[in-house]
Amino acid sequence: MNILLIGSGGREHALAWKIAQSPLLTKLFIAPGNGGTGKLGEHVVLDVEDHAAVVSFCQLMAIDLVIIGPEAPLVAGLADDLQKSGIKVFGPSAAAAQLEGSKQYTKALCDRKNIPTAAYGHFTNATDARAYIEAQGAPIVIKADGLAAGKGVTVAMNLEDSLTAIDECFDGAFGDAGAEVVVEEFLSGEEASMFFLCDGTTALPFGTAQDHKRVGDGDTGPNTGGMGAYSPAPVLTNALQDRVMQDIVMPTLKGMAEAGTPFSGVLYAGLMIDDDRPKLIEYNVRFGDPECQVLMMRLESDLVPILLASAEGDLSDQAAEWSNDFALTVVMATDGYPGPYEKGSVIKGLDGISDKMIQTFHAGTEVQNGATHAIGGRVLCVTSKGKTAGEAQRNAYATVNQIDWPDGFWRTDIGHRAVEREA
Ligand code: AMP
Ligand code: GLY
Repeated sequence: MNILLIGSGGREHALAWKIAQSPLLTKLFIAPGNGGTGKLGEHVVLDVEDHAAVVSFCQLMAIDLVIIGPEAPLVAGLADDLQKSGIKVFGPSAAAAQLEGSKQYTKALCDRKNIPTAAYGHFTNATDARAYIEAQGAPIVIKADGLAAGKGVTVAMNLEDSLTAIDECFDGAFGDAGAEVVVEEFLSGEEASMFFLCDGTTALPFGTAQDHKRVGDGDTGPNTGGMGAYSPAPVLTNALQDRVMQDIVMPTLKGMAEAGTPFSGVLYAGLMIDDDRPKLIEYNVRFGDPECQVLMMRLESDLVPILLASAEGDLSDQAAEWSNDFALTVVMATDGYPGPYEKGSVIKGLDGISDKMIQTFHAGTEVQNGATHAIGGRVLCVTSKGKTAGEAQRNAYATVNQIDWPDGFWRTDIGHRAVEREA
């Protein structure tokens, strides 16, 4: 098979690494890829906003399957346009991608299907939103309705911060994404994620993970795209996973099909677990980054036939085998991230550090004249397996410490919850 993978993050490096191991693969193209993916496939320059150009490329190269990594092209309808041209694609339609593209869309679905989630209000002006917040009190959560590159959510511990967040949204801090706002009840508990591959009607559970969103040790400082992750998530017992499937995911697939917008692709359920009750925080319609890196390390099955079955609308014959090992990834980021940072610093010490138990997935890197340069905020994802969370953590940090990059930083406590549980 000829496969086109779209994206440039650590998630896409991990997907490319797994796809490249498939006996079904003839040729992998990656658009645009990053400094780590060049050995796994051929990089292509494609404007993914130009759907006609992507379709032409697929026809010219006889692409059998397109795998779309990030959410923006999905919300923009790239999967729809590929499908219209008869090209198989892993990922939801634009209509189904509204599960990530609009918070209000998902809240309305939860109402219709009685899915456990935070109580909320939906607002199109600041006056009504402020009145609701003053009636509810803090802590409270303010969310820009649309895609805001992970920055549209404020968990406000006091009234003043929540009102500031409302003003920011309606004053245009997130552009059109903030023209509508969802205000939510604050949920306490432990956060975890569960992934499902979907074909429109059924869901194949596809692993659990926990990530670390805050930039600093001890979960302090501003939110980021994710500074590390591990899989499995010990908090998600088999009984809880069954509840997530029955109470949250199956009603979602049913509701989407009833609306005439069946969901296919990967459904990422962000969950809050309190008192053995899972509640939906949010959906994403793509693999998590860096959660994908730990899932791919643990997946023993061939990824390609499973993604193809999702694209073809029938997952009924598919199963996924997982290693019993734990996997953990530490994100190395450029100094300054998630604020402004310099681009171009050189990273050394990357040779010979990947093996069966360790993979260093690249994110914001570029190779120039044989040297690896950092060109993004999140730059490397050092991913390790281990018999326990503690072993995976020790292995990952041993590798992090071999990498010579004075301009980078990382959290030193990735996996602390899982390691503490083991103790
Ligand atoms: P999101 O950008 O939607 O992933 O949200 C970012 C983070 O905000 C989530 O991972 C949670 O940690 C937090 N969050 C979102 N909604 C709530 C809520 N209702 N209660 C508590 N925390 C929340
Ligand atoms: N790591 C969080 C996300 O991918 O949304």
